[in-house]
Amino acid sequence: MPVRPAASPPAGAELRVEDLGLTYRSERGEPVRALDGVSLRARPGELVAVVGPSGCGKTTLLEVVCGLRDADRGTVAGPPAALMPQRDLLLPWLDALENAALSLRVAGQRRGAAREGARELFCELGLDGFEHARPEELSGGMRQRVAFARTLLSGKQLLCLDEPFAGLDAITRSEMQQWLARSLQAEPRTVLLVTHDVEEAIVLGDRVIVLSRRPGRVLAELEVALPRPRRAGHAAVAELRARALAELAGAGAGS
Ligand SMILES: Nc1ncnc2c1ncn2[C@@H]1O[C@H](COP(=O)(O)OP(=O)(O)OP(=O)(O)O)[C@@H](O)[C@H]1O
Ligand SMILES: [Mg+2]
Repeated sequence: MPVRPAASPPAGAELRVEDLGLTYRSERGEPVRALDGVSLRARPGELVAVVGPSGCGKTTLLEVVCGLRDADRGTVAGPPAALMPQRDLLLPWLDALENAALSLRVAGQRRGAAREGARELFCELGLDGFEHARPEELSGGMRQRVAFARTLLSGKQLLCLDEPFAGLDAITRSEMQQWLARSLQAEPRTVLLVTHDVEEAIVLGDRVIVLSRRPGRVLAELEVALPRPRRAGHAAVAELRARALAELAGAGAGS
């Protein structure tokens, strides 16, 4: 069963992560081993979801993939990546639309053009009417959608999304998941998606990587060969969810 439409994915957008190991060292405490030999591959246009217990190194993995942090060992080969961080990191002195448009500004667009370029996506994500609101005037879920817009507007072939929908209510979350699935079908990108929500991983992912408790190691890799669109609660989704949860239970996570 095809998991992607026939649309040709962008060339050269494969991500290969080989044997990553990383230990945090500080002067104050014991070293913390965060990653231990993590390898994964995302083919061009694939969405690979990563689940694992809290603290197992998921954010660390994304930071290494995006080049924000050096690993002690291992390699990352892939196209330039955009990171949507777990904390939204909006700039408090810019309004919401300008925060969304920041990637376009960084790419050299003038202020007015960048705002216009961001407006359509801003509205598609349900933010219309809040263009001029400052981040502190937005709800947590709205801030998250602004950060999401900024990441998508980067135009990078590889998107690293760190729990992008974690702060959303169930209805908005499901809408955002369906919206992301549709927009990736229309315009494929390679995506590494970290989530605590196993169902979300299966609804969106071509594959689901299950990491162990810290230090993160790959415990299992589940292929999600289900037709799209997928819905939470479908029998086939529920069956894969049960398998992933069984792997996670082995990893020491309870969700
Ligand atoms: N900058 C840092 N300095 C020292 N230790 C760190 C640093 N960042 C993370 N760690 C430690 O590394 C481990 C992995 O952290 P990481 O944030 O990657 O986990 P995570 O899987 O993303 O967790 P969560 O699901 O809670 O977001 C944790 O034990 C954390 O305390
Ligand atoms: Mg994290």
